[in-house]
Amino acid sequence: MARMSIVDRDGRLHEIEAKPGLKLMEILRELDYGVAAICGGLCSCATCHVFVEESWVAKLPKKQSDEQDLLTELADYNPATSRLSCQVDFTPELSGLRITIAPDG
Ligand code: FES
Repeated sequence: MARMSIVDRDGRLHEIEAKPGLKLMEILRELDYGVAAICGGLCSCATCHVFVEESWVAKLPKKQSDEQDLLTELADYNPATSRLSCQVDFTPELSGLRITIAPDG
């Protein structure tokens, strides 16, 4: 198991253990305070939007153009830290990852 720190939409910090090998979104959608992930990971809904703590940003895989295009349409888009969690594999190397769930809509 690996670890992850998640700040929910109410600003509460949660420390969880998570299984590497899943998409980040697949872990987050199982949580009451997680993401809706309406499109199921097809990179078309943006309801899996999260902000990655800056010290972790460079450790994540680079964004593909479809992820980037969808993110830039969002009102809460942060060029430095926004990611679609369905496009990020949660690997063992990401144990300790810190993210914040983005606001709805
Ligand atoms: S789950 Fe829809 S874009 Fe990520």
